[in-house]
Parts: sequence; C-alpha cells; structure tokens
Amino acid sequence: MCGIVCYVGRKEVKPILLEGLKRLEYRGYDSAGLAIQDGNRIELHRAVGKIAELEKEVNDVNIRGTMGIAHTRWATHGEPTEENAHPQRDQDENTFVIHNGIIENYLSLKRMMERQGITFRSETDTEILAQLIGLNFDGSLHEAVRKSLSQVEGTFGVAVIHKSTPHEIVVARRGSPLIIGVSDHGHFVGSDIAAMVTYTNKVVHLRDNEMARLTVDDFSISTAQAKPIERSLETVEWRAEEAELNGFPHFMLKEIYEQPETIKNAIRGRLEPSEGVPKLGGIEPVWEKLKECRHMVIVACGTSYYAGCVGMYIFEKLTEIDVEVELASEFRYRKLNFPRNTFVVAMSQSGETADTLAAIKEARRKGASLLGIVNVVGSSITRETDAGIYNHAGPEIGVASTKIFTSQVTILTLLAVLLGRHQKLSLTEGVEIIRALQALPNQVKKVLSQSNHIQAIAEKYYGCGNWLFLGRKYNYPLAMEGALKLKEISYIHAEGYAAGEMKHGPIALINPKMPTVAVVPKDDMYEKMISNIHEIKARKGPVIAIATQGDDKIKAMVDEMVEIPPTFDFLNPILAGVSCQLLAYYCASFLGREIDKPRNLAKSVTVE
Ligand code: M6R
Repeated sequence: MCGIVCYVGRKEVKPILLEGLKRLEYRGYDSAGLAIQDGNRIELHRAVGKIAELEKEVNDVNIRGTMGIAHTRWATHGEPTEENAHPQRDQDENTFVIHNGIIENYLSLKRMMERQGITFRSETDTEILAQLIGLNFDGSLHEAVRKSLSQVEGTFGVAVIHKSTPHEIVVARRGSPLIIGVSDHGHFVGSDIAAMVTYTNKVVHLRDNEMARLTVDDFSISTAQAKPIERSLETVEWRAEEAELNGFPHFMLKEIYEQPETIKNAIRGRLEPSEGVPKLGGIEPVWEKLKECRHMVIVACGTSYYAGCVGMYIFEKLTEIDVEVELASEFRYRKLNFPRNTFVVAMSQSGETADTLAAIKEARRKGASLLGIVNVVGSSITRETDAGIYNHAGPEIGVASTKIFTSQVTILTLLAVLLGRHQKLSLTEGVEIIRALQALPNQVKKVLSQSNHIQAIAEKYYGCGNWLFLGRKYNYPLAMEGALKLKEISYIHAEGYAAGEMKHGPIALINPKMPTVAVVPKDDMYEKMISNIHEIKARKGPVIAIATQGDDKIKAMVDEMVEIPPTFDFLNPILAGVSCQLLAYYCASFLGREIDKPRNLAKSVTVE
C-alpha cells in the first residue's frame, strides 16, 4: 500500500523524508520519490525499486530545503516506472502531488483536460489531480486543492505543494488515512505514525472529508467546505516497530482487520447498482469474446485455488458457463478439452507463482484466452494474460493469505454477475446481489467484533493436535481453506473435507480430542450439515460451528458457535472465511508460532 511522509519546518528535510520512507517500507511498494522546495525551485527525484535507489540518486545531488513531500508507491494505475512514481506534477511543473487511494473518474477528468490542451506524462490517476490543481491555482493553494477535490470521485489521502507558495503543504483526506505530527521544529504528515515516529509522538488524525494547511509554525484543519475545525493533539505511545504494524501484534492480524476496506476496494467504482450489473474496465479488451464464453478453467495455487473453487460454485449458480478449477501445479499433467472460446482465468495474489505462470503458458499453447485476477500490478501474470482484474487490496505481507481470499471471492462474484446478467440473471437479481456485496464490509466488521470470543475458543482447543473442517457446496472449499490456514501458521494437522465425505473415511478419526469446525449457515445445505453434526456429537467429538447469526438450534447442538450475518448463500464463504482466519491466528498465537513467517514457507513461490 502506498505511503506518505511530508515535512515543513526548520530542519533539513532530505534526511527526514528518507528516514520516513524507510519506515514506510513495511507497507510494500515498487517505487518511491520525493519533491523538495529548494529556494524557488522544486527538486523532483523518483526511482523504481528500493528506497536505497532513491537515496543513491538524491545523495548525488546537492538539495537543501526544509519542506518536502515523499511517497512510496504500490502501483494501481500504470506499471511501476519512474514516470508513474509520485510525486506527480502538472504540465508547468508548479504543482507537486503525492496521493494514496484511487480516483474513480480519472478518465473523464483526463479527457476534459486533454480537450483544454493539457498533455499527460504518466498513466496514473494521481497526475490528474496534479494537473487539475495546477489549472485551478489562483494564488491560494488551499483553495485550488479544495476546488479540485470537489470535482473528484474516489478515495484519497493527498499532499500538495506549489512553487509559488513556499513553506506551505496542503493535505486532504477522503478514505485514505492521514496523520499530522507536531514537533518543536516543524510539522509532519504521514499515511501512518511510522512515517514520523522517530521525530514526534504528538499527532492529530485527519478525518474523512477534511483538509489541512501546514506551515513551519502552524497548522489548521477545515472541512471540505472550508469551515475551520478545532482538534486537540493526541500522544501516541508506540515504538517504531509497533507503528509499522499500526498497533497489531502481527501483519496477519492487521490484514484480517483490513478486510472491510479491501472488500470495498474490490467493488469500488465497479458497480452500477441501478442496472444490477458490475463494470470491469480491465476486461474490456476481451469483452466481446468473453460474453460468448461457455467454458472456463480457473488455475491457481493454495488459497487462490480455494477461492477459485468457491468461484466455480458461484459461476454455476449465476451463469451458464461450465467452470472447472485446476491446481496450477497439476494443470500441465491434465488432458483437458478446450472447446472453442475457452477462457483460462489465472488467479494469484503475487502474480509471480511459478506453477500458475507455467499453467498460463500451457493454456496459451492450447489456444485459450487468458484472464488474470491478480493483486500485484505489473507482475508477471498480468503481463502474460490478455486482460485482467486487479484486487486493489494493497500488499499482503503475512505469509498466510487472508484479505486476498475474500477479495478474490468478491471479484469472482462481480465477474459472475456481469456475465450472468448477459445470460440468465434478471435485473432484480443483479440489483439484489449488488446490494449484498455493498453490505459485506459491515458484515465482515460484525464477524471481527467477535474476535475475543474466537480467541477464547482457540484458547480452549489449541492443544488438540488434529482438526477437521467440514462444509458443503460453497463452504466445501472454505473448509479446505480453513484447514490450510490452521496448518500453515500453527503447524496443527487439519483436514478440510466435503461434509458428505465424512462417512467415507474421516469419521473414523472423530474422538473427544479432535475438534470439528462445521460451516453451517442457513442455506440449502443446512439440514444435511445438521446430520453431520449429529454424527460427530454421537461420537463425542467437539464441534465449533460457524452458523448464521441467532441460530439457536445450532447453538444448542454444538460446543461453540461463531455467528455470521445472513447473506446470499454464495457469499457465506467470505464471512466464514474471516472466522476461520481468526481461529487459526489465535491458535498459532497461543502456540507461540512465528505467525507472519511460518517455517518452510515463502510468501511468493517462484519455483515449480
Ligand atoms: O501469490 P499466489 O496467490 O499465487 O500464491 C498462491 C499460494 O502460494 C498461496 O495462496 C499460499 O498457499 C498461502 N501461503 C496460503 O495462505
């Protein structure tokens, strides 16, 4: 996720910005840059890759100055190149902008400015902001930013400087966090406390739709309508390492808690609620072919594979497309039939998984069209596919994939609804599903609010060496994903099974020391799942149910229950997925495991 650090004060700014950027490295980034006001010039330096590259470049030039803005970029619009890195500037090189978030109407604004003769240098949505502020500048930077942001749809945490207003930084927030730091030698702005923690622990949090103007000795906050706001300083007690984790003990837990936001990011700007249809710009190049597609193969590994399996059931429900899901590592050993107009969908968080890349090559050889669903912009899979959809979930640092699973299921649902609306879904059905997707972030928050309860369940059972996860239909792949989460971070042995298969073998394992996690929401598999629970209870096996909120029947039957809010059957794996992630996390935490970097595992598996 992109990072922001800015300073205006009495100290030399270059080392302050470089130190802040290094502190923000943990967020993940692919390029970095800074702009420093040096006399009446603004020095701009950007570099692809590590902060060390940028540091080398700026250390070779003599830049003095006490005000500047700096940024680590995690690419969303346009590949990681120097020209796409931030700060972005306007045509006349007067306005310099750094930005976190996504400008949704950037294309229409770009067209509007191109008609006025503005030429663009980058592929970023951020350049649109720089150009717009440059056009609107009339002596007051604050007013130019205010006016420009009123024309913008989307999310932003933005910091702006202008050549004609030295010693002044204007910042604004809608959706992406910004914090102002106050020290005895000047003012800071950061996307989080880590950016300034070496210099100050006195901060003010900017809220959504607020702006601020910072100078050496003062700062003022106002609403987006320029109404002044008074806010007192807070003292933060975090050390530097704690600041990177935003107060969470591990990245995995932090990422679990990011899910309301990452699900929002997956659907942001991609819904036409009144038409009951999603819009996915990334698949435009193949749309004519895709809408005729009747056969799809999803290839992926690990958690991405399980998300693909949930997607298969969703496609079956919402479209007329036959979907198969194949482990990327097995794909090349299969002799799959590829009827005309087959689409192979490669799904991957990293976009670098070697097995998935090999499967893509094989599919290409067989003449399939290729779609990618990938989180890392510009990664190998994005280059090897014909078109694709990004997760926009920000970097996932914990080795165990969490926020990407729920994001992938969300995106597969969007794709299925889009294709389904061309095939068999009515307007009403489309509208209802879109409403359910919009409700998901708050529903995930409700699951997260049971964190203490889930921790207590984990405390009771983490000593058990073998676990079973059961589900049917949409929740069968979720059972496998729940088992994978538990085993990879806690090293507890766990099996994920289709509940109907239990009687064909695993039932022999049931005993009072083997907990079963039964995913039993009120869906069309409900009664059958209840029979499975009876079978386990008859053998004195403890049952932890993940069930629909308020389901007293299940509560009376099982040992523990985690509640998920009601939604469409096919969205239950998202809510149940969050419950399984928390359960695995707390078990691993009680066992004292190295949660973010479990033994023998790498975040990105780049060998076959
Ligand atoms: O980057 P990818 O989504 O392609 O990675 C696939 C798997 O390696 C990954 O999901 C892995 O299974 C995770 N450790 C699961 O938590």
